Amino acid sequence: MSSRVRIAPSILSADLGRLAEEVAAVEAAGADWIHVDVMDGCFVPNITFGPVVVEHVKRATKLPVDVHLMIVEPERHLAAFADAGADGISVHVEACRHLQRSLAAIRDLGKRAGAVLNPHTSEESLRYVLADLDLVLIMTVNPGFGGQDFMPAMLPKIRRLRAMIDAEKAPIDLEVDGGIAPETARAVVDAGARVLVAGSAIFGESDRAAAIGALRKAFG
Ligand code: DX5
Ligand code: ZN
Repeated sequence: MSSRVRIAPSILSADLGRLAEEVAAVEAAGADWIHVDVMDGCFVPNITFGPVVVEHVKRATKLPVDVHLMIVEPERHLAAFADAGADGISVHVEACRHLQRSLAAIRDLGKRAGAVLNPHTSEESLRYVLADLDLVLIMTVNPGFGGQDFMPAMLPKIRRLRAMIDAEKAPIDLEVDGGIAPETARAVVDAGARVLVAGSAIFGESDRAAAIGALRKAFG
């Protein structure tokens, strides 16, 4: 795994009437992945996108499309998101009755498999599925909405997962999501995160290149 820190803008905070342009703008501004937040109004209070939006994102960019499923019974929809063009699919530990089976199903579809931890969920829930993971996403807010405040209590969890991944020499990307901004980026990178999702900190700024630059400068 490269230790280069990647930036994954979340289109949740984009101007969705101009989705393709917004995606192209952050690609031109130096983004590494495009993060798509799928919410079902059941696992989380909010409702957002389905596979058709992933299809449009995929068409608009050459960057990897990072799909974050905040839905119940995610295993029912994995094939649809894979067909739509997701490069990585992440499921919440709290939403999977058989997490290992869901992760294996994502890899069987030829996609990178990710597991997501809500703030209350321990890194220990992943200890015995490390070999099934390409990515771990640590929520640094409660999922459901953009623009929430970063939870500093997640920093020890990032550190422990970093240690677990390094001890096993597992090729797993460690990603964080929620409240990531220039003020918080340094702490998560120091703790061991290597992919930073950011919604409002990028799409809330009119100059996307400057916004991504400010994030990089914060930990650079
Ligand atoms: C929250 C989503 C995030 C969200 C982050 O449930 O998973 O990806 O877009 O938004 P910010 O960066 O504004 O906290
Ligand atoms: Zn997300």
